[in-house]
Amino acid sequence: MTTIKGKRILLGMTGGIAAFKSAELARILVRAGVDLRVAMTEAATRFVTPVTMQALSGQTVWTDLWDARVPDNMAHIELSRDRDLILVAPASADFMAKLAHGLADDLLSALALARRCPLMLAPAMNVEMWDSPATQRNVLTLRDDGVVFAGPAAGDQACGETGMGRMVEPQQIAEEVEALFQPKVLAGKRVLVTAGPTEEPIDPVRVITNLSSGKMGYAVARAAREAGADVTLISGPVALPAPSGVARVSVRTAREMFDAVKAAVSGSDIFVSVAAVADYRVKSPAPNKIKKDSGRGRTLELEENPDILAWVAARPAPPLCVGFAAESEDVASNARAKRSKKKLPLLAANLAQRALGADENEITLFDERGEHPLGRGPKIELARKLMLHLAGMSAGRKRG
Ligand code: C5P
Repeated sequence: MTTIKGKRILLGMTGGIAAFKSAELARILVRAGVDLRVAMTEAATRFVTPVTMQALSGQTVWTDLWDARVPDNMAHIELSRDRDLILVAPASADFMAKLAHGLADDLLSALALARRCPLMLAPAMNVEMWDSPATQRNVLTLRDDGVVFAGPAAGDQACGETGMGRMVEPQQIAEEVEALFQPKVLAGKRVLVTAGPTEEPIDPVRVITNLSSGKMGYAVARAAREAGADVTLISGPVALPAPSGVARVSVRTAREMFDAVKAAVSGSDIFVSVAAVADYRVKSPAPNKIKKDSGRGRTLELEENPDILAWVAARPAPPLCVGFAAESEDVASNARAKRSKKKLPLLAANLAQRALGADENEITLFDERGEHPLGRGPKIELARKLMLHLAGMSAGRKRG
């Protein structure tokens, strides 16, 4: 989380059982190098003590509008003036109602009203409270006012009911904070991404596949959404949650992936093909499990799968197409050859042995201007660098 290092954030806490998760959130943010100041409502202090939050943030915790420790007695203004963000987690239904109406009768609501920086809310409440017309009206008002929401999520609730209203997990809130600080270089663009492997059935229990965790493609989808794009992710079978704010279409085989791409591609500005598509499929998969026939070999007849990326790149007005090439040797020469064979404006190449399943990668970009090493690092950081490169390339391009 190097991108939020040094950011000055005010973490506001309101009254709700999810406040216990804010302790973990504070740890994550402080570990990432955030200068964290905490302000709690009176109700929040019933759930978690200011002592806990002070120990975790390493700073004085603020709870009182009339705190005499602020030299000019302007706590409601002073405490937010040097902040890059106010993040309220958990944000209760009552607190959101106050914000929507501009009420400021305690320190945290006054800070939110007097702020100059962005405001992010992580709502946490009972499902009926979230679904109530009043709360939904307030959410719309707050969105119109430019307030950013992290969640809520659906699931089991502390009250024993199930539904929408759970606070999203601290790690995800921290990722939303990171996203907020990314430059919106792809605002208004539509980005289509393929990720993961495909599975080609041999029989009902066996497949031909490629080793691919989907991590790089998911990082690309997340980075594109952070950069302000409208993102669709077409994914083969992987064990990863969809990045928040991204529309995921799950597929299994190369042909299913091809159909999903055909359905989604028109209107896309950028197509990033990160999927490790199986080059071949079994011509006639067996309807029942193939039995072992000891002592005898077996031959599978294969036929070629469509090259999805080459098909998109050959359309009359294609989106800006990006290929990914995982090579096991001679990365640069193979990458150049692949870029010209598939007629791609941009190809991202990496050494397969290094990238497979890992959280880190090392990527070099190849385009008409030559070679651009992005260096080595976490996949999400490389994906963010790729977005900057794409923003430069796509500026002024017309939608395909
Ligand atoms: O497998 P290969 O190295 O040719 O993959 C290069 C690029 O082509 C990748 O971006 C991959 O997603 C794409 N591809 C595809 N359909 C295929 C094979 C590869 O879209 N059948």
